[in-house]
Formats: sequence, C-alpha cells, structure tokens
Amino acid sequence: MRNEKGSLIRPVPLPQSASRPVVTPLSTSVVYASETPDMLDQQYEGGLQGYTYSREGHPNADVVGGLIDRMEGAPHAGVVTSSGMAAVAAVLMGITQTGDHVIGGNQLYGRSLRLMSEDLPRMGVTTSMVNVGDVDAVRAAIQPQTRMILLEVVSNPTLRVADIEGLAALCRETGVLLVVDNTFTTPRAFKPFEWGADIVIHSITKLLAGHSDVMLGYVAAKDQVINDRLRVFAVTTGMTPSPWDCWMAERGMLSFDLRFERAQSTAQLLADHLGTLEGVKRVIYPSRRDHPDQARAAALLKGQFCNMVSFELHGARAQANAFTRAADGLNFAPTLGDVGTTISHPASSSHRALTEEKRAELGMSEGFFRISVGLEDPDALLAVFTSAVAAASA
Ligand SMILES: Cc1ncc(COP(=O)(O)O)c(C=O)c1O
Repeated sequence: MRNEKGSLIRPVPLPQSASRPVVTPLSTSVVYASETPDMLDQQYEGGLQGYTYSREGHPNADVVGGLIDRMEGAPHAGVVTSSGMAAVAAVLMGITQTGDHVIGGNQLYGRSLRLMSEDLPRMGVTTSMVNVGDVDAVRAAIQPQTRMILLEVVSNPTLRVADIEGLAALCRETGVLLVVDNTFTTPRAFKPFEWGADIVIHSITKLLAGHSDVMLGYVAAKDQVINDRLRVFAVTTGMTPSPWDCWMAERGMLSFDLRFERAQSTAQLLADHLGTLEGVKRVIYPSRRDHPDQARAAALLKGQFCNMVSFELHGARAQANAFTRAADGLNFAPTLGDVGTTISHPASSSHRALTEEKRAELGMSEGFFRISVGLEDPDALLAVFTSAVAAASA
C-alpha cells in the first residue's frame, strides 16, 4: 500500500475473487469497520451478524468453537478461551457468587484444584473436594448453597472413572449444575451433554489441537442464560484467544478423529504390553480387567477409552531416572495429547508439592509414570518401552 504524502493509510478494499479459499483465512484484525452507525447499532443488538472488536469475538475463534460445538452436540455456540484454565476459571468465577459452595473431584487437574482451594475461598465461595466415583460421598457433601460439581471423567494420573450416571441423577434431583472437563476423554470417547452435563469444558491445548503448539480452551453450557454469562465474563476479563492459535487449532482438529483413534488403540496395546514386562509392578488402563472401574469405563467410553496409560516400575527414583534416559525418542515432558508419545512423572512434576506419604496414599510412588500415547508405529513404540523398562530394571 502506498503511504505517500496526501494518500490515505487503509483505503484499499480486499481484492475481489469469484472463488473462495479452501483454507480458513487468518483474521488478525483487532477492529472491524462497519458502514454506518445504524449498522453498528444493529450488530451490537444482534440484528446483524458482524464482528466489532476481536476481544469480543473473531472469525477464527468462531470456526474452532463451531467445530467443537458440533462434536459435543452443544445446544448453543460455546466460548473459545485463551487456555483451558481460562475456561475452568470462567465457569468457577463467572457463574458463582459469594456464599455459594462448589464441589470438585478430588483428582482434578492441579491448577483447577488450586482455583478451588485457594481462589474461590478468597472470594467467599466455599469448596469441597470429593471422590466423584462415589455418589454417596458427593451426596453427603451437597449443601443448600451448592451451585455446581466440577469433575473430569477420567482422573489424572490414576485414570479412575467418575460415576457420571449417578452424579447426573443427583444433580437433576438437587438442582446442582454438573460441569464436566472433557479434556482427557474428548467428544470422540464421551459426550457429556448426552449424559446430563450442564456445562462442558475443554483444554483444546491437549488432544483436540494435538501438536503442542497452541494454547486454547472451550466452554459451553446447556442453558442459554448461563452460556451468555460465560461469554460475557470471558470477554470482560480478556480471556479471548488469539486468531493465530485458533487458526492452528483448527488445522490440528481436522485430523483429530484419526489421531485419537490411532492413539487410543495404541494405548490399549501398550497397556497390555507393559503388563507382560517383568520390571513393571502394575498398569492402569480403563479397559483392563484389573482396573477397578472397568465396567463403568466400558459403559461410558464406548470402547474408545483414552490415550493415557499409567504404570508403576519396581524401584525408586534411580530406576525412574534410568527409565526416562533409556526411553529413546520419547519426550519426558509433563503434558498430554501431542502427536508424539510423552512421559510424565507425577512425583517430580504435577504432584511434587505433596508429601511422600500422601503420594503413596494416592498410589504415586517414585516409579509411577503417566504416558500420553502419540501416533508412532505401535511396534516401534512397544519396543522402546521394552528396552527402557529393561534398562530401569538392570
Ligand atoms: C484435564 C485438564 N483440564 C484443564 C487443563 C488446563 O488446560 P490449559 O493447559 O490449556 O490451560 C489441563 C491441562 O493440563 C488438563 O489436563
């Protein structure tokens, strides 16, 4: 564009084209120009569809949101946020008020637990952490002021399965909102709205985007008023995602079904393989007969289970160090859902703040690992585990 003396800075309209791009354009514009004040009025009032200011919404966020809305069967357009934690915070802080009480699963993601235990109480919202596999325990924790129950279908890293059916019935009976963080299970394995959830949350960062290069979240509510409130809270507090992250996430999500299918089927193979190795003390995977929630997992997860496998090596920190050193080509990194398999060690990362006794109580010894299975050739992957476990046992 010319910027000579006397010329305008942005006078040129976009080039016209009778054909349209196959790939969604990246829309980095922060502001959108309307033709007249009347038209802008109509946009704000909802009579005319149009963007105004990208914190309020932009095309790339709407494209990603639409994809997840369809996968989840969301009744209203969900809100895409700048991270999964922004989505969790929007729910916990955007629709509670002083005097409310919130119940959370006692094995929620660490930062969600922190919001529950540190930040909500500071705002006068009391909280209880409860085993969400035990409906009686949750019933006992419900108070007249209880506003919602927040849970993850499959817990991290011990892969216990929540009693969704029982809790959905309890929530209907008591008028408490059922909030499901579906990050681990994804809509491919589990659709919370079909099982009675009122609100669904995602960290898109993980399996949905799937390449460890994007940070985004998503939240949608069944009730239109709550959905609108979540959107307004996210916009007001600036939880807006960047167009670039949304564009990248859309690109990743185009292959999500195939990636999930592959990763979870390899995870089942890996779990069974680990179970045959001498250096392995125990394996946790929801489809296995020795899993305490196997029947519930089979009923809820429709054979798709998840791409996460946890297992425990015989030994202590020295064996854990030997294992990660020998796991050639796999990243030892505390995340999940990448195209490559990643290994995490709760005792030195997510659960490092706990005492050794508390970790032992939760079954997370120094030999305990959580694997996020990626898209590698299954035989090659199993071979790496065989040799890394052998190296740890040597
Ligand atoms: C189950 C679950 N929920 C929420 C989050 C937070 O997502 P993000 O890292 O995108 O903020 C995570 C992150 O690991 C998670 O595992």
